[in-house]
Amino acid sequence: MADRKYPWRVVWITGASGAICGEIARRLAAQGVTVAATARPSEKLDALAASSEHITAFPADVLEPDALKACGAKVEAELGPIDMVLLGAGMYVPFDIRNIDLDGFHKTMALNVDGVINGVAAALPSMLERRQGQLAIMGSLFGYAGWPGNGGYGASKAAVINLAESLKLELRGSGIDVTLINPGFVDTPLNASYDPKKKIFVMSKERCARKILEKLPKKPYEIAFPMQVEGFMKTVRNMPRALSFSLVRWFIKAMGA
Ligand SMILES: NC(=O)c1ccc[n+]([C@@H]2O[C@H](COP(=O)([O-])OP(=O)(O)OC[C@H]3O[C@@H](n4cnc5c(N)ncnc54)[C@H](OP(=O)(O)O)[C@@H]3O)[C@@H](O)[C@H]2O)c1
Repeated sequence: MADRKYPWRVVWITGASGAICGEIARRLAAQGVTVAATARPSEKLDALAASSEHITAFPADVLEPDALKACGAKVEAELGPIDMVLLGAGMYVPFDIRNIDLDGFHKTMALNVDGVINGVAAALPSMLERRQGQLAIMGSLFGYAGWPGNGGYGASKAAVINLAESLKLELRGSGIDVTLINPGFVDTPLNASYDPKKKIFVMSKERCARKILEKLPKKPYEIAFPMQVEGFMKTVRNMPRALSFSLVRWFIKAMGA
């Protein structure tokens, strides 16, 4: 590989105009990695591409599977084989059980779940042919346990966590690595509508991108942080339900939210 710090020559990123994946794109490009940046057409995407000779914009909607497949093929035709795809397009919509925003719920599930599998379907066939590649999927620690006010986003990320497990099991021996990335709260526009009192151990997008890129080259199955939130959410996940519900209720009360 031409690049020394990272093991990839070409990386395809969806959600590249966003806070976390945009930061990752810039950091990869700064080290000479060729980045194919996908999001819907926007000035933000153009500005990202203009920020480095190593970043090229490939606008596409991850909700359109055929267009996304064509986009992946275009990336490979123009830049070469995709060594890693980072599936980062995602959204959060508040969930109020007494006033359910069905449209918001459906949109969240579509983008956070269908958007991921559409990206996998677009990138995987060529990786399988080459018997080489890495699928990196943005999940969330909040996919590990139900949480008041988080019914839509949490359900979508739980689906992604399950999907990543299936992919990991199924792709064994194929030469394809699967990495699930589960951050806690990151200070980005995605969760601007979330009650600030309920955000715990919030980190900056810069810190988040740095922590992801520290571990991603080693191709682990999961990258999860911060450890306090990881520990709490996984403990809740593994407890008997009667206890976990009490613990989450106590925790939320203790936060004063
Ligand atoms: N922020 C957090 O606290 C946090 C924590 C854990 C995990 N995550 C996950 O990390 C990922 C990035 O989060 P973020 O906070 O950086 O989000 P963000 O800044 O809101 O970025 C979201 C990205 O998704 C893209 N997108 C939305 N709809 C799309 C569509 N139909 N087709 C293509 N792209 C689309 C957006 O671009 P356009 O709208 O311009 O198309 C944008 O690039 C998400 O999967 C999120 O769930 C975030």
